[in-house]
Amino acid sequence: MKQILNRYFAFLFGILIALIAGRYTCGQMPGMPQSRHHAWSDTSLSPDARADLVIKEMTLDEKIQLLHGLGWLATVVPPESGPGTRAISSLGFIPGIQRLDIPDLQMSDSVVGISGAGAKGRYATALPSGEAMAATWDPALSYETGTMIGNELRSIGFNMSLGSGINLIREPRNGRTFEYKGEDPLLAGTLAGQELKAEKALHLITDLKHFAVNDQDEGRYTANSIIGKRAMRESDLLAFQIALKDSGAGAVMCAYNEINGVHACENEYTLSDVLKKDFGFKGFVISDWGGTQSTVKAALAGLDIEMPGNDSFGAPLKKAVESGEVPTARLNDMVHRILRTEFDSGIVDNPAKAQSPDVMRGFEVAQKIEEKAAVLLKNERSQLPLNAASIKSIAVIGGHADVGVMSGGGSSQVSPAGGNPVPPPPEIANNPLSVFLESVYQRSAPLKGLREKAAGAQVKFDPGTDVASAAALAKASQVAIVFAVQHESEGMDLKDLSLPDKQDALIEAVAAANPHTLVVLETGGAVLMPWIDKVSAVVEAWYPGIRGSEAIANVLFGSVNPSGKLPLTFPRSEADLPHPVHVNQPAVDANHPVQHLAGFPGLVGVFMKIGPSFDVNYDEGLKVGYKWYDAEKKPVLFPFGFGLSYTTFAYSGLSVTAGNSTSVTFTVKNTGKRAGTETAQVYASLPDAAGEPPKRLVGWTRVDLGAGESKQVSVAVGRERLEVFDEAADGWKLVPGKYVFRVGGSSRDLALEEGVSF
Ligand code: BGC
Repeated sequence: MKQILNRYFAFLFGILIALIAGRYTCGQMPGMPQSRHHAWSDTSLSPDARADLVIKEMTLDEKIQLLHGLGWLATVVPPESGPGTRAISSLGFIPGIQRLDIPDLQMSDSVVGISGAGAKGRYATALPSGEAMAATWDPALSYETGTMIGNELRSIGFNMSLGSGINLIREPRNGRTFEYKGEDPLLAGTLAGQELKAEKALHLITDLKHFAVNDQDEGRYTANSIIGKRAMRESDLLAFQIALKDSGAGAVMCAYNEINGVHACENEYTLSDVLKKDFGFKGFVISDWGGTQSTVKAALAGLDIEMPGNDSFGAPLKKAVESGEVPTARLNDMVHRILRTEFDSGIVDNPAKAQSPDVMRGFEVAQKIEEKAAVLLKNERSQLPLNAASIKSIAVIGGHADVGVMSGGGSSQVSPAGGNPVPPPPEIANNPLSVFLESVYQRSAPLKGLREKAAGAQVKFDPGTDVASAAALAKASQVAIVFAVQHESEGMDLKDLSLPDKQDALIEAVAAANPHTLVVLETGGAVLMPWIDKVSAVVEAWYPGIRGSEAIANVLFGSVNPSGKLPLTFPRSEADLPHPVHVNQPAVDANHPVQHLAGFPGLVGVFMKIGPSFDVNYDEGLKVGYKWYDAEKKPVLFPFGFGLSYTTFAYSGLSVTAGNSTSVTFTVKNTGKRAGTETAQVYASLPDAAGEPPKRLVGWTRVDLGAGESKQVSVAVGRERLEVFDEAADGWKLVPGKYVFRVGGSSRDLALEEGVSF
């Protein structure tokens, strides 16, 4: 970890230099095409035809120019591509071809909101985490979120988004869990697909990352993911396949790690055989920042753009083309993929125009996501919802709930408007890795939301740093609410799944002092809960985003009936994980050669290829997440798909009509006294001959039901959802036999089942 460069620090520093030098001009719109007429200007032509017309006009240098960023130094000082155009974010900028009116590519990370905005002094909405979005199981809301993100990107002038991240949660200690969308490929792929479809509809190039099997961040530059083809195709790669099909995303970002001994950005199997041929992907492959390992090998394997530098795809690529090592046909294919994506997405014909972001719309979407994402994990004796009219005193404890809500660190970090209300201690603030290490809180204080709801009650706050004082306040209050936080960040993994900073002991002490103790978790993913039997209610709020305060208060007081369902399993202990011990990067010999970062002399070798590669054996194979716990018959703390409501639901009347699209029909009834929403889930158990884990998610639907109301619903299950990947035949097949469809409210609560034969 120590060896990883804080390039973001460098980036911010660079912005400062640029501002001082007066080079950066706010509001200037980049890459606006002129109204000159070109052969390709005819919008009735296909994107492919238009791309070919541009290529005919291009020189070799112009072609190479489109295939890389401007070098690592350019990430420090915002570069200019020529008169009138300049980088909005120096982290992701490729100058266009002015002579031909081909626009600059202006990229921003936007997994949980736009992370490049704050550095430019611009505002962007801090959304709840990716895991929170996944907990909504709501594709329509994903689309709405994509529209909001897309509008904010355009309002700043970005024309390409660097999200969504859909690496599956194989290793729950992964420090980027909060960015991703759970452990199931159908859930992750469907939600990301809708988000990016919406962004594309707003004329943005969209991107899916990190391709592929980049399932831990510890040692991410040197980790070698070992995994079988079938396991890969049916899990991590399937998530990408689904998202690409649904979204028409224009870019795929290859990851840092190796896959079966070959770097992801020079891996012919994943990039060419699977992505470009099998998935029919017509867009371009862009390397993760610093993930390009070679020139010829990478170009021939399928990499199209090197970012952010030009070490491999600048002069060396030109040379390789001139010598014939990289054929001109491949060069033209690389350029074609970029240009056809620019035309297909509409960034050429419909360039972004700077405008003020719609802040209120951002608030609305952030709140809506969090209200649908919060998962009610426990609610003994209906402790929740709290009754605002009768409650007299509440102790709010810990988690900096008096000033904000937790968010995740690294490249996806949305700058907190107004700054971090919990300033880091000097040893972190002054650490060049602060962007990873600093726990950034968004300014949305749960305490405020609770006070507004319980206007007649005394609502007191204790920071939770002194257990005795917190317990005393809890004892003197009718209800105690502990806010427990866990910070996650890119660039590092969690040491374990326990709440940090002695919060378990705090919860135990508070629960011992007051039997009405509720815990609100702000975590990136799963945590262990040794105190679970001692508290009366638990709400998983994830990283709640800029309207966390309002959303959490609405859930706790019942203005919103919780409907979130877990997108990942919460295990009982780390001993139950596929890899009880996290696979860490071995200690690095100080003399080990490091990758040279050309053009960045002061920082040579500080953060890229450090140490020899080490194997991470994904020998659990197909058994990712719940599939592992099912196959191993392990009890869990809370299963995949689990989430309670303030009402109850009953399932009945299952009928399954098999076909190319199998129709799974059943009735869900709200058996309680208040309106609620149930996410009804459909799983399939394949015939034994398929050699699959016990079941897989094949569909779901969110059902809104008034008190006592019943609805019959149908979930269509495409044939491809039932297939397995046949390595020998290198294709998908449906194994003949009996398929059992199971329906219910979580992966471990499936009241209905019916078998059909295929
Ligand atoms: C991250 C990517 C991100 C890129 C640009 C990399 O470190 O892995 O997710 O898009 O930086 O910020």
